[in-house]
Amino acid sequence: MRRNDEMTLGLYLTWEGYHRGAWRDPSAPTSDGVDIDQYAHPAALAEGAAFHFVFLADHQGVIDDHAAVARVSGNDGFEPITLLSALSSRTQDIGLVATATTTYYQPYHLARMLASLDHLSRGRAAWNIVTSASNFEAQNFGDKELADHDMRYARAREFVEVVKGLWDTWQDDAFIRDKQSGIYADTTKLHLLNHRGEHFSVRGPLNIARPPQGYPVLVQAGASDAGVAFAAEVGEVVFTAEPSLENGKRYYATLKEKARALGREDDQVLVMPGIVPIVGRTKQEASEKLQKLQSHTHIDVLIGKAHLWLGSVIDLRSIDLDALVPETLPRTNFIQSRQKLLLDLAARQKFTWRQLVRLISDSLGHLMVVGTPNDIANTMIDVFDQRAADGFNVLPATVPGGLKDFVELVVPELRRRGKFRSKYSGQTLRENVGLKRPANRFMQQL
Ligand SMILES: Cc1cc2nc3c(=O)[nH]c(=O)nc-3n(C[C@H](O)[C@H](O)[C@H](O)COP(=O)(O)O)c2cc1C
Repeated sequence: MRRNDEMTLGLYLTWEGYHRGAWRDPSAPTSDGVDIDQYAHPAALAEGAAFHFVFLADHQGVIDDHAAVARVSGNDGFEPITLLSALSSRTQDIGLVATATTTYYQPYHLARMLASLDHLSRGRAAWNIVTSASNFEAQNFGDKELADHDMRYARAREFVEVVKGLWDTWQDDAFIRDKQSGIYADTTKLHLLNHRGEHFSVRGPLNIARPPQGYPVLVQAGASDAGVAFAAEVGEVVFTAEPSLENGKRYYATLKEKARALGREDDQVLVMPGIVPIVGRTKQEASEKLQKLQSHTHIDVLIGKAHLWLGSVIDLRSIDLDALVPETLPRTNFIQSRQKLLLDLAARQKFTWRQLVRLISDSLGHLMVVGTPNDIANTMIDVFDQRAADGFNVLPATVPGGLKDFVELVVPELRRRGKFRSKYSGQTLRENVGLKRPANRFMQQL
């Protein structure tokens, strides 16, 4: 099984940090979520360190819990494709990963917007394909409740097929712009999609040239049974949340095996778990940083966040927070894998509710390492070498402070040990992460 000796690194881009208490940290910017400079700065830090990409998460709404909403950042921020389009002119090399839901867009919209981002950035776009995860999103699109989990994945599967088909409707060299003859587009190189499926009816063609990368890189984070099957089919980069090395190895092996069974090559599916690094000169200093962030996080925030990520199946406000977490809860229709991951973790560690809601606020169940640069590099290298990861989605607890610590202290250590590169190797995101440029499906048929 061939793979790169160096890890792939992405930055989960926020202006304030991943921790729920980060915006109150004295080092956090005092501006707001709609100041482009506050995103351009961390993006520049990541680009200076040769990270492969920045990633913007997204939800189409605001949680329905005003006590929590009053105390969290993140509800005054940009729509990802819009922000990344602006950042494409402030960066040169770094990949730009936008989250967009297949549940509430139409494929034509997203095919066009993501193709635009790929052209604007000269081949650095990627799409994090999500299926949405809450009723508060559904209620912004005419529905009372989110559609059924498996049904969302069925729609997502067809959605992605349509989007890829739309990206292929013009051959790469269809626009000849021959002033002499007056022919702008060679319409023998134009292919109508004419898709008729269960969820979509899309004729095409798309009114933008084929993206520089053929297709923007496809990112997925499926972790339920339906989700893993989908990730194995379409994910070229697969995000996960997994704090346990053994479970991580299992997930990695399962995903690669499922992808292989579909004829995909191992090095064309990159598994990237999240990591929350909290860096200190000593372990003690790192722990103090975490404690400070925790002291900035109100119980209403912990409860609001935990309610959502445990799948909105239990009223945490009426629960004794010092009681032990039960092994199971009613299965959620939202993010099933995260509910399971958090409950398994609580059972393994014999957590009380108070400990679990704290952990959800700190890391959302991602691997969190609180320690020296060496501790963090050692953990990352171990996870990478033991094939539980091809790289990491770095979720700095604070920005810019925690990101600077990672870039200035952990990245050099990874480089010293030959696990991370020092410069970009290609022009496009595909070239930089070693993913092939997809052929045009209509050319294959010619
Ligand atoms: C690092 C990471 C980032 C994610 N970002 C988003 C996001 O921005 N929006 C969203 O709706 N879901 C997001 N998800 C959730 C996934 O899209 C997916 O729903 C989940 O990981 C697995 O769902 P499943 O258990 O239902 O298969 C993210 C997951 C991970 C691991």
